[in-house]
Amino acid sequence: MVRIAPSIAAGDNGNLSREALRLQEWGADWIHVDIMDGSFAPNLTFGPAAVKAIRKVVKIPLDCHLMLSDPEILSEKFLQAGGDFLTVHAEAVDHEKLVRLGKQTKQYGAKLGIAIKPATKLESLDVDDLDVSLVTVMTVNPGFSGQKFMPEVIPKVAKAREMFGTQTEIEVDGGVDKSNARMLSEKGATVLVAGNSVFGQADPESALKELKTLVGDV
Ligand code: DX5
Ligand code: ZN
Repeated sequence: MVRIAPSIAAGDNGNLSREALRLQEWGADWIHVDIMDGSFAPNLTFGPAAVKAIRKVVKIPLDCHLMLSDPEILSEKFLQAGGDFLTVHAEAVDHEKLVRLGKQTKQYGAKLGIAIKPATKLESLDVDDLDVSLVTVMTVNPGFSGQKFMPEVIPKVAKAREMFGTQTEIEVDGGVDKSNARMLSEKGATVLVAGNSVFGQADPESALKELKTLVGDV
């Protein structure tokens, strides 16, 4: 089953609870919550209080994509806020920190994700001794919704599928839309992040439903 995880940061940031509710009503499988600190990523979004507010109104999983220079500073706050996936960037942690984050995530009954930027090689991941539930292959550089999809990253999706067992979700994040959603699913993606391809459309509800239909039988 391929899941669609709309990126709520691409929605109305002044009405996150309303946006979250709409996404759930429209059939979003997860909500992708982009957390950026203006340092690791050249943008600043929201923090644990926003995740807590979203958590209060929806039941679907919250996939917290931590684009933070040091995710350990706030990891526990995001877990306490109700994040289901705590996804940290391989570029921002060493192995020891990753082991600590994995333990902390487990303590809260949440799942550990590892994200990599387009230029980062999958082979650089040192996670054999970790319980990784989600690998996020970014197909844009961290920063903003609406960037152009980077096709040169496509082979990494298939490689990630090969490297990780079926228990690990393979998520593609950045520039996913109706022109590439099915292809990415056929390459092995099991979660597709959709920011602009949902919230940037005239009719976001139909856009989300169209994406779900496109990948429904993969
Ligand atoms: C980029 C974020 C992505 C992005 C997705 O820093 O991690 O989640 O906002 O938005 P689209 O789908 O518009 O590229
Ligand atoms: Zn993201």
